[in-house]
Amino acid sequence: MNFYDVVRNRRSIRSFKNTPVPDETARRIAAAVNAAPSACNLQPVSFKFIRNADLRARLAACCKQEFPAEAPVILAAIYDPEKSWKREDGFNSADTDMAIAMEHAVLAATAEGLGSCWVCAFDPVKAAEVLGVDAPCRVAALCPMGYPAAPPREFIRKEESQIFEVID
Ligand SMILES: Cc1cc2nc3c(=O)[nH]c(=O)nc-3n(C[C@H](O)[C@H](O)[C@H](O)COP(=O)(O)O)c2cc1C
Repeated sequence: MNFYDVVRNRRSIRSFKNTPVPDETARRIAAAVNAAPSACNLQPVSFKFIRNADLRARLAACCKQEFPAEAPVILAAIYDPEKSWKREDGFNSADTDMAIAMEHAVLAATAEGLGSCWVCAFDPVKAAEVLGVDAPCRVAALCPMGYPAAPPREFIRKEESQIFEVID
């Protein structure tokens, strides 16, 4: 798949086959994540690619929806807001750095034929307990992934002209 096919094929998938995700796939996703830019190249985000059934079940129980329990992998993004770049006005780049790295993971997963879905509807305190993450570090996002068992929802977007303007 070329880049634009990957971008266009990426959709949120909320139903997964029970097929395991192999090590080589995990390694290629790791390389894509590690290639993500971050402010001042500080890389304040780390990821756990969780295949362990017990940990997955306990993480899924932190989510507001049922579908994460079906996924053979839950990718967890963790960041340390004290190790990210800060601007004079208080802006902290940790969330931005995390979002870019997570999207690299999601696009790499798409290129690997995996479906995935960003999940922010979870209890971050419970998820931190499950993963043994201590303050100031935070579990910032979860992403269940696996081979899709059902198609995505309808593709709905604004008109491009509403969100993108070329100014000469
Ligand atoms: C930051 C973020 C958080 C999200 N959290 C959830 C979530 O908790 N549960 C869920 O089912 N989908 C979640 N989504 C998926 C969005 O609902 C989805 O991306 C959007 O509806 C567009 O659909 P698409 O991804 O299939 O193109 C999240 C997406 C993003 C980017």
